[in-house]
Amino acid sequence: MYRTHTCGELRMSHIGQEVRLSGWVQKSRDLGGMTFIDLRDRYGITQLAFNMDTHKDLCERARKLGREYVIQARGKVIERSSKNKNIPTGEIEIEVQDFTILNASKTPPFTIVDDTDGGEELRMKYRYLDLRRNPLKEKLQLRHKLALETRKYLDQQDFMEIETPYLIKSTPEGARDFVVPSRMHPGQFYALPQSPQTFKQLLMVAGYDRYFQIVKCFRDEDLRADRQPEFTQIDCEMSFVERDDVLEIFEGLVKYLFKKIKGIELEDFPHMEYDEAMRLYGSDKPDLRFDMHFVELNDVVKNKGFKIFDEAELVIGINAKGCASFSRKQLDKLTKFVKTPQVGAQGMVYVKYNEDGSFKSSVDKFYSQEDLALWAEKFEAEKGDLFLILSGETAKVRYQLNRLRLELAEQLQLAKPDDYKPLWIVNFPLLEWDEETQRHHAMHHPFTSPVAEDMDTLKDQPGEVKANAYDMVINGIEIGGGSIRIHDRELQKQMFDALGFTEEEAREQFGFLMNAFEYGAPPHGGIALGFDRLAALFGGTDSIRDYIAFPKNNAGRDMMIDSPSPIAIEQLDELGLQLKK
Ligand code: AMO
Repeated sequence: MYRTHTCGELRMSHIGQEVRLSGWVQKSRDLGGMTFIDLRDRYGITQLAFNMDTHKDLCERARKLGREYVIQARGKVIERSSKNKNIPTGEIEIEVQDFTILNASKTPPFTIVDDTDGGEELRMKYRYLDLRRNPLKEKLQLRHKLALETRKYLDQQDFMEIETPYLIKSTPEGARDFVVPSRMHPGQFYALPQSPQTFKQLLMVAGYDRYFQIVKCFRDEDLRADRQPEFTQIDCEMSFVERDDVLEIFEGLVKYLFKKIKGIELEDFPHMEYDEAMRLYGSDKPDLRFDMHFVELNDVVKNKGFKIFDEAELVIGINAKGCASFSRKQLDKLTKFVKTPQVGAQGMVYVKYNEDGSFKSSVDKFYSQEDLALWAEKFEAEKGDLFLILSGETAKVRYQLNRLRLELAEQLQLAKPDDYKPLWIVNFPLLEWDEETQRHHAMHHPFTSPVAEDMDTLKDQPGEVKANAYDMVINGIEIGGGSIRIHDRELQKQMFDALGFTEEEAREQFGFLMNAFEYGAPPHGGIALGFDRLAALFGGTDSIRDYIAFPKNNAGRDMMIDSPSPIAIEQLDELGLQLKK
């Protein structure tokens, strides 16, 4: 028997018991008369004590154990003379009577402690060692718990978990596909699913009514902290539902998870129109933990001789409450920030509403104190506030002010870590215009239904149509998105027309779904939540990588197994992939 208990289990109540423990040597301390070893496994750490007076040989052998050796120890649970209040097993130790080395270990390239000395790259290369550390272990435990509770909740709501294939044909989610060559059909390829979108719709045609799956998705896109090339969704679809039925169930799921896992009762999620989100925050995923909504100033800033504002399509600003005391240096830093290429503004105008009621601005040459008082009214400002203003073309300036708003919130630490502000963004545009290809693309995907009011507009003004699509946003993160689907053949045809697909092109790509829809497709809709993002949100960090056991780095590489990598010529031959000269 390797062990009678785990390394996290023993307490005062076990005193006097003979036990066996197995685990890894975390560290050893040689105090002359005594040697102590911290033995670690998934469950915790237990101190092993070796006495030089009573067990000289054993003690000498123990002193030679290296870090991360795997050992099994046998001994008696005794009370510690100096207790460690920081760990649950800190009141006891094991008076070791014997131990065996189960396996030796090379000295690890970094120390396996909570605050490790290992750099990112090294830890990615030795991920299996990094995973031994508590912070990562806790994150994976959280992920496990989230998955378990998700399954419980959805099962209670009559959802069935059904697996869909990974070797499929391209799915229309808008990113690039990863493809897999077929050996049996040279020159032909499977695609890995960007999501199970088409299959879950087919399951609705098949009558399964409520489907879910915690499922891997694959997207060949540029990576960021919240994006991995393979990631996991809580993917769902429901029949005979309208938008609010879907929102209710998934708002319910997130509330349930917050209650179960964090003990937090979330209030009902507000709904915000996409257009309003763009107007007030310049983003379809506004972080509502702080205010600083945009204020439009066109009607109070024009025709005073300030050319930049006069020529701008939109002049907007935010009110940084209580920041009139900002120094020149702080303002310069913000101006520098908005001028970085990633943000792209030409400059920033500021107005300080001083405590004495006067105004000091970077455009005093053009605007009188009375003019600035009108601006202050627009900002609903109080003495001591600071207005930061940008101008330009509508979409661009909204994007820029969104970046400034978020930057300022970060500098002022306005977002409190344990504050959660979820909302639904609804009524997205159905289509977006792509300058490059000079045609419309589906913003969500081509099976998303327009909202009922806009059905008739699709033919004549496709760009104006709103989609019956929704995103769940929490603290500025897009946690999930979905839509009510088109189940009517005629409407689907109109949609393909608007997207510039010919009948043949549509058949070629989506023929199987269109055929299926001719056999009684029920009205249906669904959503997918980004599971890695949800886990990171619950864990309180931005990067989803730590919540994935074996992630890729920012260049899409698995540093540990060294992938992607070339394959042998024979393998290429077999797949019919040899490049002919
Ligand atoms: P969508 O493309 O919006 O919708 O994806 C749903 C959610 O998945 C997460 N997500 C990602 N997470 C990590 N890395 C990525 N590369 C990544 N891409 C997306 C986001 C996102 O909100 N089939 C539709 C859903 C539907 O209509 O039902 C879909 O996939 O949190």
